[in-house]
Amino acid sequence: MDIFEKIKDILSSVEAFKIEDKDSLETYRLQFIGSKNIIKDLFGEIKNVANERKKEFGQEVNDLKLKAEQKFEEAKASLEDQDSATSYAVIDLTAPIEDPMVGSRHPISIVMNKLIDIFARLGFTVAEEREIEDDWHNFTAMNTPEDHPARDMQDTFYLKDSTVNLLRTHTSSVQSRVMMNTKPPIRIIAPGRVYRNETVSARSHCQFHQVEGLYIDKDVSFADMKQTLLFFAKEMFGPNTDIRLRPSFFPFTEPSAEMDVWLGTDTDTTRRLTKGTGWLEVLGCGMVDPKVLENCGIDPEVYTGYAFGIGIERSAMQMYDINDIRLIFENDIRFIKQFAPIV
Ligand code: PHE
Repeated sequence: MDIFEKIKDILSSVEAFKIEDKDSLETYRLQFIGSKNIIKDLFGEIKNVANERKKEFGQEVNDLKLKAEQKFEEAKASLEDQDSATSYAVIDLTAPIEDPMVGSRHPISIVMNKLIDIFARLGFTVAEEREIEDDWHNFTAMNTPEDHPARDMQDTFYLKDSTVNLLRTHTSSVQSRVMMNTKPPIRIIAPGRVYRNETVSARSHCQFHQVEGLYIDKDVSFADMKQTLLFFAKEMFGPNTDIRLRPSFFPFTEPSAEMDVWLGTDTDTTRRLTKGTGWLEVLGCGMVDPKVLENCGIDPEVYTGYAFGIGIERSAMQMYDINDIRLIFENDIRFIKQFAPIV
């Protein structure tokens, strides 16, 4: 066959070649584009072409090469387009999202918020203060001077760089700060984290949470406190909840009491939390000691008040059937996930 005929022949095979998918694209590439393609062979034939036609030959082979390459590029691009078009088509935009990772509230936050809600309805507002306290606000102002044996009740973490700074052992330190700055009537609750140097076990931890309450006005009585706490217990633990007040001692209140809530002994958790008695210790309370009012610049002849400090962990453990306080601080995702998602 004449060499010029051969060029035409290959050109018509290029034009006639049907590229329909990736396989046929590859076959085409091997034949016309790849390193051993038939067009390349043609270039070698130039030595057999008469001199006056060499230029014409060169142009035609080049033309053929460009056409073959152009067809390849176009086919490749259109196959890629189809590819992405089909992958878009399989996405159903109306389908629900798979397992959205919604966070949940920590049980301590749930209980604290519930408590804040209850007292907010009685007109208490939230007061927040520092966790690193000084000795005066945590102890001395609260009628617990340095050599007072009551300091042993609360094993304190003192900060290394200073003997006056410590991690607050109770939220009662907020009482002194608020009283120093506010003219009565005062009606606050102070939620927060507190620290005590205690051995960590299933029942106790070196950090925990309290909500402090303080009410100071003219003619505030023990009976007012009892009614307020009974209301709180019923809102928190259910309308049939029973409470009892046991005489107790705190340096900053006189008289002082501890309030227990009746949980019964029906489940393992209630037996454990109540040490088998059925009564859960929920809070400490009492009438603010006149000495404390005086320390904080409030005239005890004019004003009286009550205060209480509620431990959060025990209530949370009771409400959610948590049998080990350490779970609360480990933040294991398998534990946290079990609580109501934030919506
Ligand atoms: N601060 C006491 C405690 O941590 C609780 C308390 C607060 C008692 C207020 C009486 C009044 O145990």
